[in-house]
Amino acid sequence: MCGIVGYKGKDEAYSILIDALKKLEYRGYDSAGIAIWQNNKIVVERNKGKVDDLRKIASKNILKGKMGIAHTRWATHGTPSERNAHPHKVGDVVVVHNGIIENYMDIKERLHQIGHEFSSDTDTEVIPHLIISYLEKGNDFVEAIRLTLKELQGSYAVAIMRENERILVAAKKESPLIIGLGDDEFYLASDVPAIINKTNRFIFLEDNDMAVFRDDKILLMNTEGENIERKINTVNWTGAMAEKGGYKHFMLKEIFEQPRAVSETLLGRFKEEKGEVDFEELTLPELKNVKKIWMVACGTSYHACMIGKHMFEANLRIPVETDIASEFRYRNPIISKNDILILVSQSGETADTIAAMKEGKRSGAYTLSICNVLGSTLAREADGVIFTHAGPEIGVASTKAFTTQIAVFFLLMLHMANKLGKMDNDEVRGMISEIKKIPHKIQSILEHTSSLEEIARRYMTSKDFLYIGRGIHYPTVMEGALKLKEISYIHAEAYAAGEMKHGPIALIDEKLPVAVISPRDQTYIKTCGNIEEVLARRGRVILFTDDPQHEMAKRVDNIFTIPETIYELLPILCVVPLQLIAYYIANLLGTDVDQPRNLAKSVTVE
Ligand code: F6R
Repeated sequence: MCGIVGYKGKDEAYSILIDALKKLEYRGYDSAGIAIWQNNKIVVERNKGKVDDLRKIASKNILKGKMGIAHTRWATHGTPSERNAHPHKVGDVVVVHNGIIENYMDIKERLHQIGHEFSSDTDTEVIPHLIISYLEKGNDFVEAIRLTLKELQGSYAVAIMRENERILVAAKKESPLIIGLGDDEFYLASDVPAIINKTNRFIFLEDNDMAVFRDDKILLMNTEGENIERKINTVNWTGAMAEKGGYKHFMLKEIFEQPRAVSETLLGRFKEEKGEVDFEELTLPELKNVKKIWMVACGTSYHACMIGKHMFEANLRIPVETDIASEFRYRNPIISKNDILILVSQSGETADTIAAMKEGKRSGAYTLSICNVLGSTLAREADGVIFTHAGPEIGVASTKAFTTQIAVFFLLMLHMANKLGKMDNDEVRGMISEIKKIPHKIQSILEHTSSLEEIARRYMTSKDFLYIGRGIHYPTVMEGALKLKEISYIHAEAYAAGEMKHGPIALIDEKLPVAVISPRDQTYIKTCGNIEEVLARRGRVILFTDDPQHEMAKRVDNIFTIPETIYELLPILCVVPLQLIAYYIANLLGTDVDQPRNLAKSVTVE
């Protein structure tokens, strides 16, 4: 979704800002713009389309100056167009904004009545107009911004400049905004990867914070006008981690990074001699009193929750309810204060998942986030946080975040099962030894990808795909289908295999590829029956199994063998070939794999 960057320092702002905007491209956007403060004036360039198009237009102008702001827009109010692109300049005030101003119609109407003329369809434009109205009442620039922010309902991250004032002001509420600290220079960005090649020291702004950059100092205050202090965090990501490193796409690189990502997520979690999994940083509630565990997330992270449910219910014998975050609070869920609410999110900024956390907090439940991004809202605001150590995930289609989320669920399940006396230390030790083998097993899949490329070539022109699996494999096939549809734009549906005869079997004919996960586990016999049903209707089966002697092996069109592991960990291995098939098909079709149409990496609006 929208991205903000800003710079104030000793170097020319233009190329720093364009470079940072390029790094935000992965979030998804449809227009881009830049404003540079030069000789007391502010020059604005913006357009519909990509940052590279902006660069072409902007390079005709000489944009010279050591302070500036820039933006990528993902349209919410008003179509993607030059007039709706940010920055918005009204009088001498220039603003970039992420989020949604919910009361913009009321403000617009009021300002219109006192003579303000609006030139875009956006909610954002009311911000510079309001600032101007407060300036006209005699307030100074910072105070005019503060008064404006207090009037805004909804969410915002903003960066604001004014002609003739060498000040940059930033503020946030319910939309992410971070400050990067360089040597006598300051960066602003919506996320860490945008500026990690410039600095690894960050301040994560909190809701209602304002940052005023004046001379070589930052003043931090809140929208009540009180001075505040915020901690400086060091992030151990490197610039190279946010580069493609020789791969054609970020998504492919991130698929291949999974052995390392899972290893790092496991690092330091085991007290092996004792047979314990360590979550020292968490103060979980007394588990004996926990009546229910909720797992709530969106998209891929939701699929990880569904897998978590299988693991937790089977091993803890505590009821688990999974929920899509955008549905959760609207059905008025009955959460008790003895419940645990687990929120899963790669970005930690997904608006619906944050809203679900707030719902949980209101009910007094213990909220626990599983996040990949340090300093993100869910990481900061939940009662407890467990980080996946996947490194920056830039490809819009989530891959390594998913496998590391499953690894965290597994560790947490072991930790809780042990605490509850459902698993003794020897059993935990046995399970630990299984997950420690997983990175190596993913690696072995990644070393045998040619048959997956062949399968991709065979089915790349199909109009539809069906994915089926049972038990813990049902969420995995949902994830496989999601990967295919989001990056290749091929319609793909996932079904619990046993549900097939209740409807989707009508779709099966000789043109339909049907991906089936069928390892030799408790789902094996029933899934064999489902494969028979597909074959009887001449469907094209692509079988994923850990058993080369699978009884359907000789009868299916395609078979891909994954290494063996325990039931709970099979999703990590099964999803890798599904990710790769989706990637290879999209690549063959020539779609924009890392930034698929209409999608945003971080969905910061509800
Ligand atoms: C799919 C995908 C999305 C995200 C979803 C939640 O490949 O990336 O479905 O999983 O938008 O995002 P996070 O995990 O950041 O909350």
